[in-house]
Amino acid sequence: MRNLVILISGRGSNMQALVRARAQEQWPARIQAVISDRADAPGLAFAAAQRIRTVVVEARAHTRASFEAALMEAIDALAADFIVLAGFMRILTPAFVARYAQRILNIHPSLLPSFPGLNTHQRALEAGVQLHGATVHFVTPRLDDGPIIAQAAVPVMATDDAGTLAARVLEAEHQLYPRALRWCVEGRLSVQNARALLTPPEPQWLIFDGNAPLV
Ligand code: GAR
Repeated sequence: MRNLVILISGRGSNMQALVRARAQEQWPARIQAVISDRADAPGLAFAAAQRIRTVVVEARAHTRASFEAALMEAIDALAADFIVLAGFMRILTPAFVARYAQRILNIHPSLLPSFPGLNTHQRALEAGVQLHGATVHFVTPRLDDGPIIAQAAVPVMATDDAGTLAARVLEAEHQLYPRALRWCVEGRLSVQNARALLTPPEPQWLIFDGNAPLV
């Protein structure tokens, strides 16, 4: 059994997809807690309704250093094997990342290395890309960087605005993240030469046309 903690800052729809997939597919993992850096994160109510422990480490009540110290204390008390960032909107320091090397996963709403940072959907539209998507990766000290575990591509429609594109990417995220995290809890991922290798190999990508995976 692997112990997971899921970190959120807001809505928590990816967290919900992970919680549901773990239960439906009976992963060899338990969700020790959902931790939020904001007491008002809407996702906390879902976790509580699922009888998952919720922990708030309120960022606004801390300096950056004391916030991370409190976060580490919470994570270590839960004996977390993997720290799953699911819409967690804080940048972690190198010291924090080093402490949990190759045990922190993140989902980012773009096909990295394109569009790290914020406002990815608007920036994708402005760049005129035809494909956009999401990436699950191991976290390194560099922002939105690290070995890529899986990616999902979605088409950009001529009629899209940032909202419609975000919604299409989010649907893909909800299929991508459970798949990637499951590989992790099953011990199927290793990192070699900064690449995440899956054993036995299978495609580490999804391609969507609308909401249905093409492949
Ligand atoms: C998701 O689109 C996720 O990829 C993004 O925030 C959203 C959270 O939605 N994460 C980042 O931008 C991290 N840099 P959710 O709270 O409904 O899962």
